[in-house]
Amino acid sequence: MSRRERVADPPQEARGPRGAAVTVTGLSKTFPSGEGGITAVREADLAIEPGGTVALTGPSGSGKSTLLHLIGAIDVPDAGTITVDGTEITAAGRGALSRYRRTVGFVFQRFHLLPALTARDNVIAPLLPYRRRAGALARATELLAAVGLAGREDALPSQLSGGQQQRVAIARALIGDPGLLLADEPTGNLDSATGTEIIELLLALNTDLGTTMVIATHDPSIAARCDRTVSLRDGRIT
Ligand SMILES: Nc1ncnc2c1ncn2[C@@H]1O[C@H](COP(=O)(O)OP(=O)(O)OP(=O)(O)O)[C@@H](O)[C@H]1O
Ligand SMILES: [Mg+2]
Repeated sequence: MSRRERVADPPQEARGPRGAAVTVTGLSKTFPSGEGGITAVREADLAIEPGGTVALTGPSGSGKSTLLHLIGAIDVPDAGTITVDGTEITAAGRGALSRYRRTVGFVFQRFHLLPALTARDNVIAPLLPYRRRAGALARATELLAAVGLAGREDALPSQLSGGQQQRVAIARALIGDPGLLLADEPTGNLDSATGTEIIELLLALNTDLGTTMVIATHDPSIAARCDRTVSLRDGRIT
């Protein structure tokens, strides 16, 4: 059988299927604000199979970012459970939680690259200070090639276009070999052609690496490319 064109090879130490299974039940989050607060996520239930791609849609303020932050354990829910690969992260202690966070990749609308670091150093930044090892540098170079930036490893963010900066951010999200990638409007700061390229890249990486992906987006054409769309309205999955 001819070898299909791949954008990324799994890391050498890859262990079986790569994508995380995510189960969310009864998840709620209220932020303090005036009387009663703002309930950003309301009794959300969601099951994502390993390697699945889910588009998270809904109007501004409907709770997309909050739900991503809860799933990525960078915010804490008031109620409900999140289970990832059989581990209930909402019941995990600090050590287990910080280990879990290292298995999640985040991609943001505004890239959030460190301006003084080269593309390669931005990619390995999540591993610092522990692992500025040859293996990490080699993997960063591989991932930059996989996102279409071979030869630009030493460029600073200011020397890259928006689309190229988002490619660096995607490589950075993948450096920890995550089972789960959470992208919050990854094309929101890009023109539509560049945005389409970024989504094609994410979906190609999903195919090659099997990484489970949740992508918050306002763009119905992006949502249509994912396996499934989950719509939020006033914090509720509709
Ligand atoms: N840290 C916070 N403190 C108070 N309220 C918050 C906080 N974060 C979010 N909210 C509120 O929670 C609700 C959901 O916000 P969230 O950012 O999750 O929406 P969103 O769907 O991502 O919107 P957008 O499409 O504009 O990014 C909004 O009413 C918002 O104002
Ligand atoms: Mg948001």
